Amino acid sequence: MRRPLTIVVYGKGGVGKSTTCAHLAMSFARDGRKVLLLGCDPKADTSLRLMGGRRPPTIVDMVTGLEGHEFRSLVTNARAGLDVLETGGPPPGQGCGGRSVATLCQYLEDHAREMSGYDTLIFDVLGDLVCGGFVAPLRFGLGRDVYIVSSEETASLFAANNIVKVASAPYHEGVFVGGIIFNLRQNDARPEALEAFAARLGVGITAVLPRDRDILESEELGLTVFEHAPRGPAAARFRALAAAIEAREGVVPGASVKPMPAPEFAEYVRHQKIYRSRG
Ligand SMILES: Nc1ncnc2c1ncn2[C@@H]1O[C@H](COP(=O)(O)OP(=O)(O)OP(=O)(O)O)[C@@H](O)[C@H]1O
Ligand SMILES: [Mg+2]
Repeated sequence: MRRPLTIVVYGKGGVGKSTTCAHLAMSFARDGRKVLLLGCDPKADTSLRLMGGRRPPTIVDMVTGLEGHEFRSLVTNARAGLDVLETGGPPPGQGCGGRSVATLCQYLEDHAREMSGYDTLIFDVLGDLVCGGFVAPLRFGLGRDVYIVSSEETASLFAANNIVKVASAPYHEGVFVGGIIFNLRQNDARPEALEAFAARLGVGITAVLPRDRDILESEELGLTVFEHAPRGPAAARFRALAAAIEAREGVVPGASVKPMPAPEFAEYVRHQKIYRSRG
């Protein structure tokens, strides 16, 4: 059997990870793949768009200890060919969300055979890699290809650089970096500046997604753009992104990417003109 396509999506908070994951999951499922979308975020908002705005029960809601629970009983069917599993987490300010993710990953590792019905696994992970729990999909060898969602904003690029640091760490052998998905805040960000950033890190640009109102409108309805605006540019871009990921275009071993040390990152920000001059 072919090895499943396993991707892990990281990026700064609010940058567009869940939007990207939900559209990828839907695009793959519509192409006939058997997809499991794993929401590794205590907010459990990954699958809202796939379930008409409803929130599936999370693992933390359903069970305290995972042992003794059948894998099938934890998964919610969102659409034909598309299942979701939300980790959930403790209430805000109480406990550790990363720990729930690590517990889930241990469970998945122990129940790997029950996941053999899926050919595509997508992990949507809260971006804070300072917390070791959120690195669990990589540490357990569950996710293989890391995709970074970043806008052109400094804080987002800073997180992207950190993710490259984590992916290139020697103890993450077997991790690959698929590329950066630029999800723009300002559509006039200079492509040359984004290309220079990705080239310096040694990663490809898998897609550039402009800000698009269809994405926001469809979110309000608990839909993807494939249902809400199927002929719009956002739908075409998400389809192209899924095709590039399926083909594993531009994927490189984690060991070959090169994060910037902090002083160099500060220099990059000072000298790159990210936005076109208004003058
Ligand atoms: N290209 C885009 N154009 C317009 N709106 C977008 C775009 N990408 C994302 N958004 C909107 O931005 C908001 C944040 O996106 P999303 O929830 O996907 O981010 P996230 O990285 O998953 O956030 P978090 O870190 O909180 O989980 C959502 O309202 C989403 O609809
Ligand atoms: Mg999210």
